[in-house]
Amino acid sequence: MLLGTQRINSRGHLEIGGCDTRELAEKYGTPLYVMDEGLIRSNFRAYKAAFAARYPENEISFAGKAFLNLAMASLCQQEDFGLDVASAGELYTAIKAGFPPEKLLFHGNNKSHEELSLALSYGVGRIVVDNFYELRALAALAEEKLIRQKVLIRVAPGVDPHTHRLIRTGQEDTKFGFNIKSGDALAAIKEALEAAPAINLRGLHCHIGSQLLDAGTHVEAIDVMVGFIRSIQGDTGFITKELDIGGGLGIRYLHTQNPPSFEAFAEQVVGALNASLSKHGVPPPVLFQEPGRSMVGEAGTTLYTVGAIKTVPIPEAPGKRIYVAIDGGMSDNPRPQLYESVYECLVANKAGEPTDNVVTIAGKHCETDILIWNTKLGNVEPGDILAVLSTGAYNYAMASNYNRFVKPACVFVKDGKSRLVSRRETLDDVVRLDIPSELS
Ligand code: LLP
Repeated sequence: MLLGTQRINSRGHLEIGGCDTRELAEKYGTPLYVMDEGLIRSNFRAYKAAFAARYPENEISFAGKAFLNLAMASLCQQEDFGLDVASAGELYTAIKAGFPPEKLLFHGNNKSHEELSLALSYGVGRIVVDNFYELRALAALAEEKLIRQKVLIRVAPGVDPHTHRLIRTGQEDTKFGFNIKSGDALAAIKEALEAAPAINLRGLHCHIGSQLLDAGTHVEAIDVMVGFIRSIQGDTGFITKELDIGGGLGIRYLHTQNPPSFEAFAEQVVGALNASLSKHGVPPPVLFQEPGRSMVGEAGTTLYTVGAIKTVPIPEAPGKRIYVAIDGGMSDNPRPQLYESVYECLVANKAGEPTDNVVTIAGKHCETDILIWNTKLGNVEPGDILAVLSTGAYNYAMASNYNRFVKPACVFVKDGKSRLVSRRETLDDVVRLDIPSELS
């Protein structure tokens, strides 16, 4: 499986964005997150074009939670995308990068007063309100600051995506948003309308889940949302101007996975939206979306250096397991531990060689942090560079300092050039927050 601009060069090395990954590993050290800038940009453009051709009134924002740093925020701006931020930290990153605040959407199921206040003072375009507590706090703050804040109300449409239970969000039993069935969603709309002019209600939001490998759940959710828009109109006369359907489109972690193309996804989503609009007699809202993983996931590759290799006897066939240890693990990619996520890998400096060995890739934390169980690999030796594919989404973003590991560096590669976009932490960074005890 080669993704984006990945290819095997004449030296038999994996190349990304025209850069030899062995050279990248030497230059920047490992573990290293390598982001294929060309692929990210072409994903942004292709997603946008697929929807623009079918539903011109639409706004697409990148979900910053998937991968965000200053360079990524700038890239979103250059590509004329919006940006979805879900914490003070993500918001601050966008602002620091000079991202236009009016193109930001601010999310979160428990935004603090400080976060709301910060969002208002930065002039964030839209705040996606999750609950009554937030709605009231926001109305009071906006009134105090004499601001007319554009708001979307987050709704749980009560559809159940068939994805890992920990990344489902749109079903009824969820911490996210207002429930339609219980009447909370309608009550929230009424309360938001009453809170005008401080609250400028624009419409509704839902996000149903992540890593969805077909558009079925989106189609279901759209019909629920449009039906709800119709009933709001009946109950309150309010015309929903904006409908945000979140993100959720999946990517290839394995060569056997086959997510719909952006064109096919747009065809189904827009087809479902138009059908629901005419079925319910609802005027077309502006369609907002927030794809994260599908924009950056396949564009990321993590490079590691192989260290210890050991063979242990196991009772089942073939009677042994070969553990290949790398210089990272659950601190740079917690997804296998959290969601039993699966990945593919290759030896970056022997990318052209046959892959006849079955090995298990182990991290170096004080746990059984297996990155990939029983994967086929070429002849692997200490010092080789291992490339794990499709690590662009929710890897750098979810990295931790467990075991006081330093966070790896991140580079963008494009047209034969690499640029450092987040430096590797140093050992001094590890202790930078600590306050030393005074020794008497
Ligand atoms: N909008 C909202 C409100 C969201 O909560 C999310 C993801 C997105 C957009 C973007 O969804 P995407 O297009 O990336 O599927 N840490 C998990 C994923 C959690 C997703 C959370 N919300 C993982 O590593 O798989």
